[in-house]
Amino acid sequence: MLAVIGGSGFTSGYLEVFEQNFIHTPFGEPSGPIITGQIDKEQVLFVPRHGSNHSIPPHQINYRANIWALQQCGAKQVVAVAAVGGIHQSMGPLTIVIPDQIIDYTYGRKHTFFERGIAKVEHIDFSYPYREHLRQQLIGAANRLNIPIINYGTYGATQGPRLETVAEIKRMEQDGCHIVGMTGMPEAALARELNLDYASCALVVNWAAGKDTGIVELSEIERNLKLGMDQIYQLLAKFITINKC
Ligand code: HPA
Repeated sequence: MLAVIGGSGFTSGYLEVFEQNFIHTPFGEPSGPIITGQIDKEQVLFVPRHGSNHSIPPHQINYRANIWALQQCGAKQVVAVAAVGGIHQSMGPLTIVIPDQIIDYTYGRKHTFFERGIAKVEHIDFSYPYREHLRQQLIGAANRLNIPIINYGTYGATQGPRLETVAEIKRMEQDGCHIVGMTGMPEAALARELNLDYASCALVVNWAAGKDTGIVELSEIERNLKLGMDQIYQLLAKFITINKC
C-alpha cells in the first residue's frame, strides 16, 4: 500500500478519512494515529509528520515511529510531502521539485533502526536515496497535468527549527544543495532500512537565506504553503492513478 507523509501545509484535510489507528512502536509514538483514507478514490495511509495540530518541530519528530508504524499498517511505498527553501536560482517560491539526492546536516536525531539490542548491525546502500521508479511516476504525473516541476535536485536537510544563516546557505550551495528543508532526514534513510520505497515531493515556499533581498519572511512561507499545496494534491492524485497500474 502507498503511504503519504504530510508536511507543513499538507494535512489530512486533503483525504477522505475512514479510519485512524493508534500504533505503539518499539521506538515510541508516531506523530499521530495512522490514517487510512482515500485520495481521489484510492486507498492510502497517511501520517502528518508534525502532528495533527502542527505542534511537533522537525528535530523532535519521531521519524522511526512514523516509518515503523506505516510499515506495520501495510505500507510498501512512501511519498513524503515537504516544504522547502529554494537555493538554486531555478527553484524559486512555488516551484515543485522531485529531488534525487540528499545531503544530511542534521544531528542528534534517532536516525537508524540498527541499534545495539534492537537489531543486528547492518549497512544499507543509500547511493540513490529516493526510489527512481517512484520519482519517475511523480514526474510523469506532473507531465500529464502540465504542472511545471524540476525533476532533480539535492535536498540539504538541516536541523532546524531555526532557518539558516546566509553563510550556511552559501556553504550548502557550494556543497551542491539545490533546496533546503528540515525533515528529509533521517526519514528517507529509515524508509530504506525497512526496505520501503520512498520518494519526495517538495514545494519551495521561500528563497533560502540570502537568496533574495532582505530576510526570510514567515508570512511569505505561510502564503506560499496555502498557494502551492493544492497543486501538490493534484500531483499526488494523478501519481496515485499511475502508481496503481
Ligand atoms: N530552510 C529550511 N527549511 C525550510 C525552509 C528554509 O528556508 N523553508 C521551508 N522549510
